[in-house]
Amino acid sequence: MNTNQEILQEKIRDRSAKIVILGLGYVGLPLATIFAEAGFNVIGVEPDSRKVEIIRREESYIQDVPTNTLAQLIQSGKLRATTDFSVLAEADAVSICVPTPLRKTGDPDLSFILVATDELAKFMHPGIVVVLESTTYPGTTREILLPKLTENSRLEVGKDFFLAFSPERVDPGREDWTTYNTPKVIGGITPACSEVASLWYQQALETVVPVSSAESAEMAKLLENTFRMINIGLVNEMAIMCDRLGLDVWEIIDAAATKPFGYMKFTPGPGLGGHCIPIDPLYLSWKLRALNYTARFIDLASEINTGMPRYVVSKVQDALNEQARPLNGSRVLVVGAAYKPDVNDIRESPSLDIIGLLRQKGAEVNYHDPYIPRITHDDWSLESVSDVIESARTADCVVIVTDHTIYDYQGILEQAPLIVDTRNALGDAGRNNPKVVRL
Ligand SMILES: NC(=O)c1ccc[n+]([C@@H]2O[C@H](COP(=O)([O-])OP(=O)(O)OC[C@H]3O[C@@H](n4cnc5c(N)ncnc54)[C@H](O)[C@@H]3O)[C@@H](O)[C@H]2O)c1
Repeated sequence: MNTNQEILQEKIRDRSAKIVILGLGYVGLPLATIFAEAGFNVIGVEPDSRKVEIIRREESYIQDVPTNTLAQLIQSGKLRATTDFSVLAEADAVSICVPTPLRKTGDPDLSFILVATDELAKFMHPGIVVVLESTTYPGTTREILLPKLTENSRLEVGKDFFLAFSPERVDPGREDWTTYNTPKVIGGITPACSEVASLWYQQALETVVPVSSAESAEMAKLLENTFRMINIGLVNEMAIMCDRLGLDVWEIIDAAATKPFGYMKFTPGPGLGGHCIPIDPLYLSWKLRALNYTARFIDLASEINTGMPRYVVSKVQDALNEQARPLNGSRVLVVGAAYKPDVNDIRESPSLDIIGLLRQKGAEVNYHDPYIPRITHDDWSLESVSDVIESARTADCVVIVTDHTIYDYQGILEQAPLIVDTRNALGDAGRNNPKVVRL
């Protein structure tokens, strides 16, 4: 008689394995699409009924998933979305792609993982493979998911069912490295778990990188994001130090980057944003705190990065002061609100803090972002102005926060009376220009 592993592997190879993706956000929807394109039947379970409705209308709300691709997969019956978790009863392979934010206290908020796992636990059956994709601290898969999935089912991991962690690395908006061709690290609870999960992902992704355990896979993701966070913290501090020294940090970074080895270019900016870099390393430092260890690099970089919006506001204040204007009552236009160029994602964006701080100081703030028509945050709500050039002309100061490629920077430069450029978006045109202040 064939084992659960053999039966499941056969279903994976012949594409008859039924896939369920829990959470159809920036990570889950592209993943669901990739598996459906590889020939599997995929059901996405998403508690947000508005998202399910949009998918049922054959439309995509994620930039990286083209609407026509999604529509074709829905029409061919390969992909569908539901709010109903009972489809898990029929699932052979489940990927969990739910949010892992921070609580107000800065501690990990695993509530979405817990709810998704509880739902899955109700429908656990032999011959199923489960992969957690949500970024989290090392130990989550083994310490949190495993007991929940085995508590009532009495299934044995590595024999009756298979459990692994595989971090998502997608960089939304990026076209050269996608969910399909970015190598995928996978670590199982047991070697059999790694084997089954890797086999599944190999059917749809270009490269799978197995590691020895779920914890190694969890930690690999945190190393990647901590590396970015710390290097961004370093160049942000470089920008502050260069300012004190009267040096041009952008010229210095470009010069350093001519070294063909041993240096990787990072650029300063108004602060960290997005769902990953500002948050994930804090999952790691939290876990280490519980083990009586202080993750000093993370704490320091976090302190510098979270201070950047305030630093930018001080730059605006100083620039206006040079023109004998107080920030209080000045018209400030924030150009770009998304956390990075060419995306419509405003999660954790430094623009939120910058707008909030400018408002606190009495500035009359407007913003423009072609991808974000309205922002509601804390106690304020703003609509994007429609004409960025005209608004730049009538502002007292323009702050470039997000360097979307769509902008006519020359036009902004010509019309604005004063510019604080936090991204070096104006390039050489901003250098030595008396009305431009750069980071
Ligand atoms: N966005 C990125 O660029 C990115 C990159 C790499 C890793 N990650 C990680 O991937 C995970 C998901 O991130 P995201 O950006 O896709 O988040 P998201 O908020 O865009 O999507 C998550 C989805 O899960 C849904 N959801 C919430 N609770 C659920 C439940 N119990 N069952 C099923 N679905 C549920 C939400 O409604 C939402 O649609 C996070 O851990 C994140 O850190 C994100």
